Formats: sequence, structure tokens, C-alpha cells
Amino acid sequence: MKGVILAGGLGTRLLPLTKITNKHLLPIYNQPMIYYPIQTLVRAGIDEIVLVTGGHYAGDFLNLLGNGKDFGLRFINYAYQEGEGGIADALRLARIYTGLDRIVVILGDNLLEKDIGQYVRKFEQQESGAKILLKEVPDPHRFGVAEVDEQGRVVNIVEKPKRPKTNLAVTGVYMYDAHVYDLINTLRPSERGELEITDVNNAYIRKGQLTSDVIDGWWTDAGTFTSLYRAARLVAEKVEPKLKDHWY
Ligand code: G1P
Repeated sequence: MKGVILAGGLGTRLLPLTKITNKHLLPIYNQPMIYYPIQTLVRAGIDEIVLVTGGHYAGDFLNLLGNGKDFGLRFINYAYQEGEGGIADALRLARIYTGLDRIVVILGDNLLEKDIGQYVRKFEQQESGAKILLKEVPDPHRFGVAEVDEQGRVVNIVEKPKRPKTNLAVTGVYMYDAHVYDLINTLRPSERGELEITDVNNAYIRKGQLTSDVIDGWWTDAGTFTSLYRAARLVAEKVEPKLKDHWY
């Protein structure tokens, strides 16, 4: 199993913070944002990672992360996404490194409190296909939202619906078999001109090959001012639990 971190995009929702750096290099409490998804993958037992980035400041990732040794990685490979083709377009650049292996993909601005190792192990046992991780949230309209049947199986995912049918957000952690790359090649750009990861997941649902788990512990993205602030606060309270009662 190999890891893929998607850390491209221009971070326009965080301007002017992203005017002179990549979003994923901004601080979240005591570490740069990109450290958190790396640590999530390493904790889950993954020691070979592809980092896909883009934009003007891509070289800074190499300065910061080097060969990945400090994180316990055996390899970190870098890929460069041109333009704003979307999450699924960024993912296709990982193909040359991951070949026929299964992959755990994580969005570079996603932070999780707990180890995802148990879900990765479950996916390893799965015959083929994909697995997504879900989390109940109070503001599902901001995310991909999973619609489920009586058995809790995901039957459809809608990207940022105005009227969400559930409160189950699709987190930015996705597990795929190697067919994902062929599947991406069949996608058409969405209305905003991007290849959407939600279309990838819906294609797996149609093949009857998508499983899901609802995760424990907190999860947040960090791509807006509010969520960037929330992420810092969640990390701070984890690193220094006493802070919870003593914010001043
Ligand atoms: C992306 C995905 C969305 C997912 C979210 C998780 O949205 O398109 O389905 O719920 O990441 O962070 P974005 O943050 O790119 O708007």
C-alpha cells in the first residue's frame, strides 16, 4: 500500500495568506499543515508517499520535507500538477509511482485526530474497489455528502449539495485499487472545469465496489479561514489538553 498526498491548488479561499506560499505550508498550531497528512499515513503503516503539488511555491516542499526520513518514510516522491484540473486530475500524476499497488489518498488540508490504520487494514482485506471514510458534521453542504440505504451502504455522493440528505461528509481520505487511474481517464470535467473525486467515488458505487466507514475522533479540513482556525484549535487542545479550560 502506498500513500498519495494531494497538495496542489492555489488556495484562493485563503488569500492573502496564500499570496506568497502554498496553502499546505501554512502553520496549524505548532506544525506546517502538510505534516499532519504525512503523519496520518505514517501512523497507518505507510512508508512510501507521493506528494502531488503545483503552483509557484512547489520547490518549498522539497526544502521542508527533503527525502522524508525525519517522518520515518522510506521514500517520498514529488509530482507537479499544472493548472487547476481538480483533485482527480492531480491523482492521475501518482500513477507512475504507484503502478499496480493499492493506494491511500489524503487531501493535504485534511487533519484527523485518530489513527486510520484499522480502515487501511480492512481495505487490504477487500477483494477490490475502493473505500471512503465518512464523518458526521453540522455543515454537510460544505462537502461531498454520502446518501446511504437502510443498511448504511453508500448509494450516492453529492458534491456540496444545497439540501444535504444526510450529515455524513465524505472526508478527504480515499482508498483505491489500481483501476482508479483508468477510471479517471473516463471522467469528464465538471461544471467548474475540474475532474471531481466525487465522480471517481460514484463510479465505484455504480460498479458495486465502494465500501465506507464512519470514523471516530475529530476530522477537519483547513482550506477556509474558519476551518484553518478550527484545525489549529483542535490540534492545540490535543497537544496541550489543559488549554481547553484556559484559553485567554
Ligand atoms: C473536497 C472534495 C469533497 C470533500 C472535501 C473534504 O472538497 O471535493 O468531496 O468532502 O474535499 O475535505 P474541497 O475542499 O476541495 O472543496
